[in-house]
Amino acid sequence: MTTRIGLVGAGFIAGRHLDALTSIEGVTVAGIADPRADRAEVLAARAGAAAYAHWADLLDVERLDALWVCVPPHAHGEVESAAVERGLPLFVEKPLATDLATAEALADRIDAAGLLTAVGYHWRYLDTLEMARDLLAGAPARMVLGTWLDKAPRVDWWARQDGSGGQTVEQATHLFDVARVLVGEVEGGWATGSRSPDGPGDILDVCTAALRFEGGAVGSFSNSCLLPRAHRIGVELVAPGLGLWLTEHRLVVTDADGERTIDRDVDPFEAEDRAFVAAVRGEGHDVRTPYREALRTHRLAVAVARAAADGGAVQL
Ligand SMILES: NC(=O)c1ccc[n+]([C@@H]2O[C@H](COP(=O)([O-])OP(=O)(O)OC[C@H]3O[C@@H](n4cnc5c(N)ncnc54)[C@H](O)[C@@H]3O)[C@@H](O)[C@H]2O)c1
Repeated sequence: MTTRIGLVGAGFIAGRHLDALTSIEGVTVAGIADPRADRAEVLAARAGAAAYAHWADLLDVERLDALWVCVPPHAHGEVESAAVERGLPLFVEKPLATDLATAEALADRIDAAGLLTAVGYHWRYLDTLEMARDLLAGAPARMVLGTWLDKAPRVDWWARQDGSGGQTVEQATHLFDVARVLVGEVEGGWATGSRSPDGPGDILDVCTAALRFEGGAVGSFSNSCLLPRAHRIGVELVAPGLGLWLTEHRLVVTDADGERTIDRDVDPFEAEDRAFVAAVRGEGHDVRTPYREALRTHRLAVAVARAAADGGAVQL
């Protein structure tokens, strides 16, 4: 049996998913939709897929088994709703939307339909994240420091508040997701941010938050997009007798034996796609971030972003 997949959005991340999906035996990427028809055509040609200018035509014409939604944050909503109406399993790229209301409404519709979903918080598939979780099982984290100090991506929607929701919602959301896995749920906190006249677009170009977790741990999360290239992206954890530094590529462990570095052994993009395809086929149960679970991370990111804009309390 062939699993027929559609992609909505034909930009950078769609290309990553296309490569991962076409490496899976029995998967066909049947069609790709993007209002930039040139992009849809180029990507479709790579996979022998059909190109569409509108996702509605992709859904109407192709008999799909699942849909990967790879659109910018501002473009979520209608396409997911259409997939829910058709009962079409949905893989959605993070963040779920620029705001909270769109994602909450979709989560309710998805739950009511009992739809199979996954969201692209790919750090969840890092073997090094699993190692960190095992190490912390014996010594729970007391403190977490998350940093996303980077350049502003050069896509037109990214530096616009109404395009991306800002860097905290668009990028630092990965840090919040990892912190939720390794430390637990956030109770509340405080955040502030600002923008400089020469910062990109209309988003905050620096943002920092101090958060308190339900278990008593504390956290500090900072992001900036003012740098010429990626500078420091990851999560540090402090536990009794144990220090961890987790990036997308490696884990550094500091304990009584000294310091050791473990490089990741999996491609997390490939792993998340394989897991969702297996779930769609009824052959696996390793979806680590269904839509409702991703909503908890998105809610936290939006709450921090909102508090940062006002220099105020993080309301969850
Ligand atoms: N998981 C990750 O680490 C990761 C990495 C990169 C990007 N992303 C996420 O993926 C999403 C897309 O990012 P990107 O870097 O691919 O952006 P991109 O700008 O390269 O591509 C987005 C594409 O979507 C298209 N598009 C816009 N509205 C659409 C619509 N209504 N229907 C169909 N297509 C539409 C655009 O024309 C564009 O070609 C973002 O939310 C981003 O956060 C996730």
